[in-house]
Amino acid sequence: MSEKKPYYVTTPIYYPSDNFHIGHCYTTVIADALARYKKLQGYDVYFLTGSDEHGQKIEERAKKKGVTPKEFIDPIIDNAKDLWKSLDINYDKFIRTTDDEHVACVQKIMQKLYDKGDIYKGSYEGWYCTPCESFWTESQLVDGKCPDCGREVKMMKEDAYFLKLSKYQPQLEAWLKEHPELMQPESRYNEMYNNFLKPGLKDLCVSRASVKWGIPVTFDPSQTVYVWVDALSNYISALGYLSDDDSLFKKFWPADLHLVGKEIFRFHTIIWPIMLMALDLPLPKKVYGHGWLTIGGGKISKSKGNYKDPRIFVNDYGVDTVRYFLLSEVPFGSDGNFSEELMVERRNSDLCNVLGNLVNRTISMTNKYFGGTLKKNVNYTDLDKEVVSYLNSMAKEVDDKMEELDIPNSLGLIFRRIERLNKYIDETMPWSLAKSEENLPRLNDVLYTIIDGIRMCAFELEAFIPSTSKRIYEQLNIESPTLEQLEFGNIENYKVTEKPEILFARIDEEELKARLAAEEEAAQPKIEHKPEIEFAQFDGVEMVVGEVKECKKHPDADKILVFKVDFGGEERQILSGVAAFYKPEELVGKKVVAVLNLKPRKIRGLESCGMLLSAVKEIDGKEKLELMTSNMPVGSKVC
Ligand code: MSP
Repeated sequence: MSEKKPYYVTTPIYYPSDNFHIGHCYTTVIADALARYKKLQGYDVYFLTGSDEHGQKIEERAKKKGVTPKEFIDPIIDNAKDLWKSLDINYDKFIRTTDDEHVACVQKIMQKLYDKGDIYKGSYEGWYCTPCESFWTESQLVDGKCPDCGREVKMMKEDAYFLKLSKYQPQLEAWLKEHPELMQPESRYNEMYNNFLKPGLKDLCVSRASVKWGIPVTFDPSQTVYVWVDALSNYISALGYLSDDDSLFKKFWPADLHLVGKEIFRFHTIIWPIMLMALDLPLPKKVYGHGWLTIGGGKISKSKGNYKDPRIFVNDYGVDTVRYFLLSEVPFGSDGNFSEELMVERRNSDLCNVLGNLVNRTISMTNKYFGGTLKKNVNYTDLDKEVVSYLNSMAKEVDDKMEELDIPNSLGLIFRRIERLNKYIDETMPWSLAKSEENLPRLNDVLYTIIDGIRMCAFELEAFIPSTSKRIYEQLNIESPTLEQLEFGNIENYKVTEKPEILFARIDEEELKARLAAEEEAAQPKIEHKPEIEFAQFDGVEMVVGEVKECKKHPDADKILVFKVDFGGEERQILSGVAAFYKPEELVGKKVVAVLNLKPRKIRGLESCGMLLSAVKEIDGKEKLELMTSNMPVGSKVC
């Protein structure tokens, strides 16, 4: 037997998240379909996915929960694995960047690059938030302040190591010229060239002193490996590169395909190839940068309320409805929109009306007219010849499209065949043939043609919607065919199931619309109302505009600022818990609104004679606050 050809396909490794949404499933479902497809084509496939577990954010989230980073991550990874299982993701390995083998491999890679002189010591500069012990880039800041705690940040420097990307730029450019197929779709090359290569590559920071949750750098224990060298190395550490057993590496490297979202394409087509060049390793054959799944044209996120755990969809509609939508809906390389209604529409129109209907009525007719048995069609009419030749050309056409990684159109080619078989039923009208005894042989041939066509389509669909293909084989009472058995007419006799099972029950779209509208309504944040009051009660509150003359920190209470406010000839001391949101000096001169007839009270030894009004809301789990201000003259009444 000839050796199977190896095929190595990877997804990115995911950041541990409590909020995996349907967009996250997109890369992994495509990778799974490609891996399954190649397996069915007879390749020896290795499909890798995993998790990217180091970094400051994880460290902080674990600290907040009072657990170690590893304790924090473990249940999240179990949850991710459960999600992949629910989507029928059949990976060969799930790598975690906290795995000992990965850690050892990354340390050896860093050491190798350092020994070679491709890594040098420099300094990292960024905006630093002292209480959070975190560096931020300019673009991460929110209103110039720490995005986590809202406090002031300052420009700071720390020792760090850098990888000489610039040294390898000419070599990379030359390589890309010879291998334009690395970047898929090839149109992404221009974007990479204009935005990154043309302006000249900047060396990459590969280690940090302030990030503690990371892989220690062996040649400088004060540092940990920083983000991309750690993450990208997973593609070779998973295969045992630089370990005692590198047989998988020898067999599967270079990767046939790295599948990634467009936002991380540049790391995979610039930094990763340079790392590999520096390590004297061959470069991957293709990197495919897919578009994003959006909701209403925008990002999917829990805070926007447009998020549902994908397992809810799997539960409600079955795994293949979700897989089929993800695989067929997003045009090759571009963004695509997701909505539950759209997914159900596609299920009803394609899976239920076209595929399910064909299988169901053909099995029913086979039972009704022949007690479930059929003999091979050997008397082709011209119509049969046309249909059979169309079926026989499917495998090659799908294969060519899959070679281009164009999954939606590959599925389209299969569905055109299924539609053709439905049309063939209308053309041959089995129910009319059944009316006379002499037409029964022809009726056998017609039904055989359809059933065998269904078998061929089920084989082609197996990579995309595997459990549906399995259910079809079960109803046809056959084993899952191999590629060699695919040709029309491979089965001599069929004995189909007596009780056809509905593959995809129709979902009532009107009912769904009503349910979704009700869910949306229920999800609207509700304002918690206080009991009604009389006008006189409201009118009894004295609110006045005043100007802040002085503002200081409370000597004994971190959260409180002490204001001196002028209300037009009357100055009052007012205390307010806004220290986390303002620097005292920035409030001097501001005109604020205060309640003046509130009973004075003491807070940690200082008296507050009134209360400043502010607007407060929790946004993305963080409290936001703004003092109410006014441009009206001091002493104006607020009513
Ligand atoms: N950890 C890095 C990858 C390191 S690879 C060496 C990372 N992780 S991620 O969790 O943020 O993203 C993982 C994958 O999910 C990416 O390919 C990303 O594009 C994909 N998606 C996340 N949201 C998505 C959509 N809304 N739509 C499609 N894919 C998106 O990046």
